[in-house]
Amino acid sequence: MHARNPDSRSQKLTRRAFLSAAAVFSTVASGANDDDAVWTQYLTWLKGRAVGDLVGLDSYRKVLTEQGLAKVEVERRMKLISERALRRPEAMRLWFNSMYGPDGAVGPDWPTPFVVDVVKGLTPGAALDVCMGEGRNSIFLASLGWRVTGFDVSDVALANAQAKAKKAGVEVTTVRSGYQEFDFGRGRWDLIVMTYAYFPIRETKYVNRLIASMRPGGLLAFQHGVLKKGADRTGDASLLGIPEEGELKKIFHHLRVLRYQEVEEISDWQVGHAARKGRSVKMLAKKP
Ligand SMILES: C[S@@+](CC[C@H](N)C(=O)[O-])C[C@H]1O[C@@H](n2cnc3c(N)ncnc32)[C@H](O)[C@@H]1O
Repeated sequence: MHARNPDSRSQKLTRRAFLSAAAVFSTVASGANDDDAVWTQYLTWLKGRAVGDLVGLDSYRKVLTEQGLAKVEVERRMKLISERALRRPEAMRLWFNSMYGPDGAVGPDWPTPFVVDVVKGLTPGAALDVCMGEGRNSIFLASLGWRVTGFDVSDVALANAQAKAKKAGVEVTTVRSGYQEFDFGRGRWDLIVMTYAYFPIRETKYVNRLIASMRPGGLLAFQHGVLKKGADRTGDASLLGIPEEGELKKIFHHLRVLRYQEVEEISDWQVGHAARKGRSVKMLAKKP
C-alpha cells in the first residue's frame, strides 16, 4: 500500500481541483463546450490522477458539481462521458493505470474463494480470465496446470500480473486489449473466469461473443457486485457491468446454471484498500 502525507495530498487535490476548474471555465468561455471538449476535459482529469486516487465516474461528477456547474449540465456531461467510456477503452486504461500504479497497490494477491472452489476436481484445460487485472485468478489457475490467457485494458495491471506470475513460477499469457476488440475465438475455452470484470453484460453482442468462445461443456465462473432491481444505473454501475438481482441468469440463458448465489459480504475486490460490504453475485454456468 502507498503511505501518504494527508496534508500534501489535500493540497495536491485542491490545486488539481483549481486547475481543472480553470480548464473547464476557459473552455466554456471560449464557446468550445461541445461533446469533444467535455470528453477531452475528462481524459485530462484522468491523466492528472495520482496512484490510488478515486477515479470513478461518481468522483468526476463530484468534481464538476464542485466547480459550480448547473445540475443539468453536470448530468449532460456525465451521460456523454459514460456512453463514450463504454466504447473507448482509452478512458478505462487511464482510470485503471492510475489505480494499480507501478507497485500493484489495489487488488488482493489471493484468488477469489469462489474460483478456488469451482475448479476443485476439474481437469485443467484452456482458461480465459476476462479483465484479469493483476492476474490473481490467472496465476492460481496456472499453478493448477491450466493454460491461462488473460486480457485487460490496463498495461500497468498486466505488467504487475506478469511480475507476480514470474514470482510464482508460472506462465500466463497476457493480452493488452479492451473487451471491445479482444479476439475471444470460437469454441476455445474450457473455463472463462469473470471476477469483477468491467464488461457490458447487458449488451447481447458481447455476451454472444463470450458464449461462442466457450467449448461445449465449458464453464463460466462469474462474480461481481449485484444491484437492487431498478437501481440507479447512471453512474459507475452501467460502466462496470454490474447486474441487477436475478438478471445474470436471464442474460446467460443460453447456458445451464449449475450454481447461483446472491450474498451480502465484504467484496473480494480491493480487499485491503477500500474493503466494502455489499451484495455479490456468484454464478457457475455450463455451455450445453
Ligand atoms: C475491478 S477490476 C477486476 C480485476 C480482476 N478480474 C480481479 O478480480 O482482480 C476490473 C478490471 O477491468 C479492466 N477493464 C476495465 N475496462 C476494460 C475494458 N474496456 N476492456 C478490458 N478490461 C477492462 C480494468 O483494467 C480492471 O483491471
